[in-house]
Amino acid sequence: MGRRVKQSFRGCSAWITGASSGLGAEFARQLAPEAACLVLTARREDRLRELAEEIRQHHRKVQIVVAPADLAAPEGIEAVVDLLATERVEVDLLVNNAGAGDFGLFYRSDLARLRSMLDLNVKAFTLLLWWLLPQMIRRGRGCIINIGSIAGLRPVPYYSAYAATKAYVHSLSHGLEWELAGTGVTLTQVCPASVATEFFEHAARRPEDLKEIGGPPFMWTSPEQVVRCSLEAAGRGKPQVTPGFLPGLCAAIFSYVPISLLRIVYRASLAGKRKPGGELAEERMFVEKQRDGRPL
Ligand SMILES: NC(=O)c1ccc[n+]([C@@H]2O[C@H](COP(=O)([O-])OP(=O)(O)OC[C@H]3O[C@@H](n4cnc5c(N)ncnc54)[C@H](OP(=O)(O)O)[C@@H]3O)[C@@H](O)[C@H]2O)c1
Repeated sequence: MGRRVKQSFRGCSAWITGASSGLGAEFARQLAPEAACLVLTARREDRLRELAEEIRQHHRKVQIVVAPADLAAPEGIEAVVDLLATERVEVDLLVNNAGAGDFGLFYRSDLARLRSMLDLNVKAFTLLLWWLLPQMIRRGRGCIINIGSIAGLRPVPYYSAYAATKAYVHSLSHGLEWELAGTGVTLTQVCPASVATEFFEHAARRPEDLKEIGGPPFMWTSPEQVVRCSLEAAGRGKPQVTPGFLPGLCAAIFSYVPISLLRIVYRASLAGKRKPGGELAEERMFVEKQRDGRPL
């Protein structure tokens, strides 16, 4: 198959969710030289305004719409949609990026935290697509960048629910990508490995968990590299990309590992965490701390 012709993002109107930090902020920075308009959404309005100011200093022509919202709440999406109508912005690039993680045993998750992750990673993620795609198809052009994760390619214990939300992203992205053929709208799913952002700080339930999450050094890529590679892939209309050579190789292998083999690997690697009585080390710590009367 021949190499796809690269589209440019020159003059585009991009809506970036999760723009107050990490990948979202970096998408805004890298799109700013080409975009005509950037719509920045996240809950922390002060961060969005700081970013807008930073971008305006270097790129005077780009229109920036700061659109703070809690996308996990139904009224959050509606508020941004209304603002876009008022500002007469026709979005032709969606960076569907806002997402949250939760690291730890599923049955010990905090209900409010779990609900909010599902509302953001699944519900808001889907509703944005439902709202924007018909407009893009009517205009015969548009680009969607869905931020998934390498964790969405196969089940991941301790990240079970988060990985399941990203498996949803993976499945929906491929289904839509096929449905969009011939409409002039392209969809690229990005499946990063580990990226140095605030993600892990928020995903960790306790500070000591930070040591355990993120994976080995070769799985890490910088936000700059992830965004550069994502824009390049989206510009070429590639359906899926994992930025970085080694993370990309691992993602390719991970996608094809049979679940039965993965089960053996996971069981062996998690065996060290189990005490002879079959009790998880973490569980024992939990019980001991509870006995001491200290909150987790
Ligand atoms: N970092 C990694 O290793 C990694 C790996 C694979 C995939 N990913 C995915 O990459 C995406 C971006 O994450 P990141 O690494 O850039 O982490 P991050 O720095 O924590 O960024 C997450 C962004 O989502 C926003 N957000 C969180 N809850 C929100 C809500 N309820 N409503 C609106 N915005 C909300 C946050 O802003 P506010 O807090 O201001 O709302 C922030 O801007 C996520 O989908 C994540 O799953 C990350």
